[in-house]
Amino acid sequence: MILINTKEAAELLGVSTSTIRRWSDDGTLPCFRIGASGYRKFDKNVVESLNEQFYGAVHDVSETKETNKIDSVISGNISAKSHPSHYLMHKYWGRKPHNVVSEYISCFTKEGDTVLEPFMGSGVTVIESLKLNRNVIGLDINPMSKFIVENTISTVDLDLFSAHYHEIIKNAKNNYADLYTTKCPICSSNSIIETGIWENDALVRIKGVCPTHSTFIKDVDSSDIELCSRCTQIKNHLLTNNNIDYPTDLIMQYVKRSGRNRIDELFSDRALIILSYIRSLILQVPEKGTQDLLLFCFTSMLSNVSRMLPGDKEKATYKSGWVISKFWTPKIHTERNIFMCMDLRYKAIMKGKIELSNIRPNLAKLYTHDSSNLRFIDSNSIDYIFTDPPYGESIAYLSLSHFWNSWLPTQVDYPNEIIIDPYRQKGYDDYARKTKAAYREFYRVLKDGHYMSFTFHNRDLNVWKAILDACYEAGFVLENIIHQEQAVSSGTQGINKKNTLTGDFVYNFKKSSEQLNSSINQKIDAYDYISQKIAAYINQNDGATPSELYEYIIPIIVQNHAYTDSKGEVVNIENILKDSYDYIEVNVDAKNKIGGGYKWIRKI
Ligand SMILES: C[S@@+](CC[C@H](N)C(=O)[O-])C[C@H]1O[C@@H](n2cnc3c(N)ncnc32)[C@H](O)[C@@H]1O
Ligand SMILES: [Zn+2]
Repeated sequence: MILINTKEAAELLGVSTSTIRRWSDDGTLPCFRIGASGYRKFDKNVVESLNEQFYGAVHDVSETKETNKIDSVISGNISAKSHPSHYLMHKYWGRKPHNVVSEYISCFTKEGDTVLEPFMGSGVTVIESLKLNRNVIGLDINPMSKFIVENTISTVDLDLFSAHYHEIIKNAKNNYADLYTTKCPICSSNSIIETGIWENDALVRIKGVCPTHSTFIKDVDSSDIELCSRCTQIKNHLLTNNNIDYPTDLIMQYVKRSGRNRIDELFSDRALIILSYIRSLILQVPEKGTQDLLLFCFTSMLSNVSRMLPGDKEKATYKSGWVISKFWTPKIHTERNIFMCMDLRYKAIMKGKIELSNIRPNLAKLYTHDSSNLRFIDSNSIDYIFTDPPYGESIAYLSLSHFWNSWLPTQVDYPNEIIIDPYRQKGYDDYARKTKAAYREFYRVLKDGHYMSFTFHNRDLNVWKAILDACYEAGFVLENIIHQEQAVSSGTQGINKKNTLTGDFVYNFKKSSEQLNSSINQKIDAYDYISQKIAAYINQNDGATPSELYEYIIPIIVQNHAYTDSKGEVVNIENILKDSYDYIEVNVDAKNKIGGGYKWIRKI
């Protein structure tokens, strides 16, 4: 018998050491107590058998397929690194840790193989594939996704880009720099407005820079108010003469917040005048790649110069960027100087482009397309799929990207988006149907004996069920499930620290015409089953954070297909929790960490 310690057992099973301790306490994983302190040791064979029981076997597939020699599927957490500069060129939501994606691609493919990423978002899979000299096909229904990825990987003459950029900014400043002029409160000299604070739709405070007295903060004076009125007059004059162009599209209901109805209402009149002018200059640049990169710089800046930045009145600055995944214009918000913001974005883009200058973009084929129809990809032609599918209603990708897409000449295929959006009559059924069609296509295009990995985390069992059913119905066989930590926290996590799940699960599936899916036990009443598991877990651990709980329960649910109760209704985990448990603040070190500090405990 080979004995291993708690840490080694945790690594083997891809869970935390506290999970191992808990499993040993509840008898799930028998342990030996060693020495006077009684610390735990485990039989390695028993740990491995548990791995198979809970997560599916980690197969050595090297003998099964000549074409796909993989020593073993990744079986544990990979420590996530933060994003390098080339991932910070443009905002997108749900960017996965690049080094984790890279390790998956390295594990499942070799140089020259073809990777498919059917929901590419901002393109981590595409970019990591290129770095590893893999061919890659990237798709996303969102035109913004292809735009971001294309501009991230494109080979553009950076000297030419730089020359056009400076020329455009010089021209725009010549025409409109005076719209950012204010008086220094000490010497009354003309000074530059860096930021303005708006409260209830009126400009109230300004942070400016005087040539003599440097930075100052002041309440607005009559000339500042007069300048705002002048901006409105200029905008109206330009409109009358058809000399201004900005999007007036209606904001979609699902992402509406704070009463603004149209995209242009997310900007001040001053911003609309300057943005429209800069965009018109960019559209005159003759070289397509350069023009696109300039537009990319432009869209990457848009949120920073919108009304969506919560303002700090006292310091006359912004508290954060576009923080929530809605179009929210806080009552006190900040207006930033477009020329300054554009310059920051230009520098960030130059840095990212220089970092990526050695990749070969022609290994990538990118499409704006619905992934449930991959007719342009041959059957059995893809070596590996790595993706991060849409999670239901977490983030409304198309409705939010409308903010950028509306400034670009694009058509958006809203009806085929995979999402749950009650305002567009897109419920679970639509989500499940489209997800099934997509996974059928993934199965068709993947080579036999090859793998598909995807990351996923969600509280809603309807969404889990839709995705897992789609995989099984397509014919995929589950190899294992890994709990994987995330790289950086997103804005939404920052806001809702106390009830956010940490990490993701990575599912590794295989296309195998020889292996059949293990029989699915649908007789389990998932309500009772999940309730019992949760009760045992919470009792044994004196409570549990949402993350601990979901990390524990989801693999068990998935492995047992325990989604529906005796009436066939999908179980709502949150309701089970709310019925029998209280969600309370606890005094733990992790209090300020995401997912820490709050626990579910049994109701007294
Ligand atoms: C979770 S995100 C992927 C984010 C990505 N991991 C990243 O690193 O940026 C899911 C993506 O699926 C896309 N999507 C939604 N419905 C789709 C469909 N029918 N076909 C293709 N892509 C779709 C969304 O536009 C979104 O970009
Ligand atoms: Zn001064």
